[in-house]
Amino acid sequence: MLDKDSTRGLWTSKIGFIFAAAGSAIGLGNIWRFPYVTGENGGAAFVMIYIFFILVIGLPIMISELTIGRNTRKNPYGAFRKLKPGGYWKLAGGLGVMTGTLILSFYTVIAGFTIGYFFLILSGKFSGIHGVSQSGEIFARFSANPFNTIGLSVLFIVITSVIVINGVSKGIEKWSKIFMPVLVVLLILLVFRSVTLKGSLKGLEFYLKPNFDNLSVSTFIQALGQALFSLSLGGGGMMTYGSYLSRKEKLVSSAGYIAAFDTMIAILAGLIIFPALFAMGGDPEGGPGLIFVTLPSLIIKMPGGILFGASIFLLLTLAALTTTISLLEIPVAYFVDERGWSRKKATLLAASIILLLAIPSALSLGASGWLSKLPFFGIGFMDFIVIVFANYALVIGAFLIAVFVGYSWGIKPALHEIELYGNNFRLKRVWTLLVKYVCPVAILAILGYMLVTGNYF
Ligand code: TRP
Repeated sequence: MLDKDSTRGLWTSKIGFIFAAAGSAIGLGNIWRFPYVTGENGGAAFVMIYIFFILVIGLPIMISELTIGRNTRKNPYGAFRKLKPGGYWKLAGGLGVMTGTLILSFYTVIAGFTIGYFFLILSGKFSGIHGVSQSGEIFARFSANPFNTIGLSVLFIVITSVIVINGVSKGIEKWSKIFMPVLVVLLILLVFRSVTLKGSLKGLEFYLKPNFDNLSVSTFIQALGQALFSLSLGGGGMMTYGSYLSRKEKLVSSAGYIAAFDTMIAILAGLIIFPALFAMGGDPEGGPGLIFVTLPSLIIKMPGGILFGASIFLLLTLAALTTTISLLEIPVAYFVDERGWSRKKATLLAASIILLLAIPSALSLGASGWLSKLPFFGIGFMDFIVIVFANYALVIGAFLIAVFVGYSWGIKPALHEIELYGNNFRLKRVWTLLVKYVCPVAILAILGYMLVTGNYF
């Protein structure tokens, strides 16, 4: 009951926890993915659906994950096992640990790219080019070079490990408290620069004008998937961070702050990308290549372009780093809790496993070789891992968490944990309704649709 039980580590302040958890949530998902998905899916119409899912599905599941974590003081596997010993539920926790680990294995490759691009832009590589096709060639060459892709992933994992090895408060919390304010300031400066460019208004209009014409089922899949991914749910991330939270802290308001912070940053990221893109006459439908291909070719042409472009990639690097920290912490917590290993040994082993898994992902970006077109599946290794873990496993994980709290562990013990120390949960009836009925049904519907149509987000 008391917090002195925890030799595993604890956050030392509420703000430290919120920075760390928001740091986990705010990542490539916000700055790289959210803008182009919004651009492709009807602008403000998509943002509205997205916010609806954050409130109705994301927040209730985040509260559930944090509650399970804090109640058990365990990694996801240990948490499910502690609450339902002997049954199959611990496998749901095991799935969470695996999902977090495998998400990190490809995440670190893209995160490595952001460091690489920071230096590439500074070096003036893009300065003399003409148009998107040349910038595309640079990207193709960059991503097909194993020295870049593997080398930079190693660099990213090493930096992440150095922080995680120092522990929850002296490593993760300390650095989150430094990185997150820097990230916010940098982001605001970049938004300001972008929206004050001549011709930026068209970009704002494209990004934010609601377009309800092209809404389809797939828009809803995209919105829900993005909401879960962006809030770091379904993969054991928030559960792990919740396990280091003091029982005195208000879980519900913390979850609210994290979700609000995450959503704000995602929306602001679009305010950097689209106004700049339109001001320079670019194509907003660039998809995943928007950041690495379209943007560098245009940004570089504006006054102070090198500084602006490099700052965008610095922003991406910082956002990715606070996320990789939280992803690495999932298997580390597992090894510390379940195997009784020291944090150092756990970190070194987890980081090594992730690196081994990152290598095929990194190599699959090259133009040739079987890794870039897996036999039978016909897609690259990295795409395969993204689909299986960042799409299916994540959604299945979120579904299992809702069912677990709603029906197996139970609403009552969960509410007891939430309301410790007289912390009244005013919306507990709404939350109960959402966790028991709305979340499982909505997530299952989406999962069914994904399976039947082969669509994903
Ligand atoms: N939220 C992160 C981002 O937007 C990525 C992420 C997805 C994640 N699932 C997670 C992070 C689980 C930690 C744990 O970039």
